[in-house]
Amino acid sequence: MSGSVSGSISTSAGPAEQAVSTPPLIELEGVVKHFGNVHALRGVHFDLRPGEVHALLGQNGAGKSTLIKIFAGVLDKDSGTIHIEGLETAFKSAAAARAAGVAVVYQELSLVPSMRVADNLYLAREPSRFGLVNRRKLVADARRFLEEQGLPLNPTARVEHLPFAYRQLTEIAKALSGEVRVLVLDEPTSSLSRGEEEILFDAVRKISRQGVGVIYVTHRLEEVFKLSDRVTVLRDGANVGTFATSDVTMEQLVGAIVGPSGTGASGKPESYKRPSPSETGQPVLELVDVRNDRLNGVDLVVQAGEVVGLAGMIGSGRTEILESIFGLRRIASGKLLIDGENRKVRAPIQAIGLGAGLVPEDRHLQGLVLDHSIERNVALPRLDRLDFFGLFRQRESKARARAAIDGLSIVAPSTGTRAAELSGGNQQKVVFGRWSDPTPRLLLLDEPTVGVDVGAREQIYEVVRTMVANGASALIVSSDLGELLMLTDRIAVVAGGRVVDVMPVSEIRNEEHLHQIVQEAQP
Ligand SMILES: Nc1ncnc2c1ncn2[C@@H]1O[C@H](COP(=O)(O)OP(=O)(O)OP(=O)(O)O)[C@@H](O)[C@H]1O
Ligand SMILES: [Mg+2]
Repeated sequence: MSGSVSGSISTSAGPAEQAVSTPPLIELEGVVKHFGNVHALRGVHFDLRPGEVHALLGQNGAGKSTLIKIFAGVLDKDSGTIHIEGLETAFKSAAAARAAGVAVVYQELSLVPSMRVADNLYLAREPSRFGLVNRRKLVADARRFLEEQGLPLNPTARVEHLPFAYRQLTEIAKALSGEVRVLVLDEPTSSLSRGEEEILFDAVRKISRQGVGVIYVTHRLEEVFKLSDRVTVLRDGANVGTFATSDVTMEQLVGAIVGPSGTGASGKPESYKRPSPSETGQPVLELVDVRNDRLNGVDLVVQAGEVVGLAGMIGSGRTEILESIFGLRRIASGKLLIDGENRKVRAPIQAIGLGAGLVPEDRHLQGLVLDHSIERNVALPRLDRLDFFGLFRQRESKARARAAIDGLSIVAPSTGTRAAELSGGNQQKVVFGRWSDPTPRLLLLDEPTVGVDVGAREQIYEVVRTMVANGASALIVSSDLGELLMLTDRIAVVAGGRVVDVMPVSEIRNEEHLHQIVQEAQP
């Protein structure tokens, strides 16, 4: 299967030449889709040329994922046409689309966590001999393939043991491992940091040079300029426009995305520093030489009213620090002090009882119950408490859900809407909404704006600032270093399962400088 990426693609001409001589790889026209009363797509046009990287942009709930799912055979359209290389086609299933070379990496990962990377890559296409899977060949093939694609993955690593971003890379490798003519990436970099992002970009550039058409969904607008040839912007299920990337500015893109009544948020924050550094006081949280399977002696202090950022590469231990505090990961030795008292936190419920709240990185594994309503999801950490009040509970949890929907501008028909029916960014806001009232005294935020659009990102920053102004302290992990510089008072640099350096944000010149500090800290 090595080299199969180039499979049926016969030409190596660039996108510009091909645009004239060949029909688009895919052309969608007048595509309409309703979910009940929600008008998700209102007659959308989209076309993809061979060899181009076409960015698909829009706010949370704009209809990007729906559009992708329709041509990938996952959802039926209500009306409209889809042409593939000039022929009208509608895939009846995801498998049919995959067989025709449409590979999609969805926002929600689809790996089997208990299996190895190599097994996941070959799930549908294991090399067999006499009906049995040849284990050794499978791993060797996977290794060769990963090397060719330049993806730094160990084929024998078990997916569940991989940090989230590596799971994302595995998902991408899986998509590339079959015959591919169209590759769709729905927010592939949402949890990758800059160095890691480049690995993915290289893979994308390589595959587009081979003539594959790439559709790239992202909320990180800088990526659009680094990677794409054209951009299509959707708003409220309708086309705003399709542009050559070289013809638009960041400002124009933001304007197109948020629309005339938008929040006016800019793609890049203008002022980095927090307006007024909060008063520091008693330590709320102290870690003293904390060790376990992933941590090698973490020392860290968070003062009352303080916001501390954890900066580091994938696998450095940032998430594991949060998990160890929140009772999701056993602490083998060392001390965890909350409000100066030595505590043993063995489960999240204890951490919540001590005033901590976690917004996890992977909202599907840990953050949300997809089958439950927004209301139940927002009420989750205190269901037990609310149950006490019988009927009152319902009214209170509905009010809380309503407040979360309004406060975070969650796009949803009602508080009873199931989380599964929300767009990805709105799901993230629901996870956040859980901690908005009452606010925990210690917020643990892991990539808080993953998958959140430019306007909503500002809203989440505002929520964090308000929580802190009301007395909360926060520990924030983010691979978006600009975000860390904007939100935090101090930065702790994490490498090799330890905090190797701590500095006030005022000592860091800019994002580039912090990036350098993080890189130099690597063991
Ligand atoms: N299975 C579903 N059932 C009901 N409504 C849905 C379903 N899937 C999506 N929707 C609704 O359709 C609209 C478009 O959602 P979609 O997931 O396409 O947005 P998106 O542009 O991908 O947003 P995001 O950037 O947040 O991922 C939203 O209002 C969403 O709530
Ligand atoms: Mg989406």
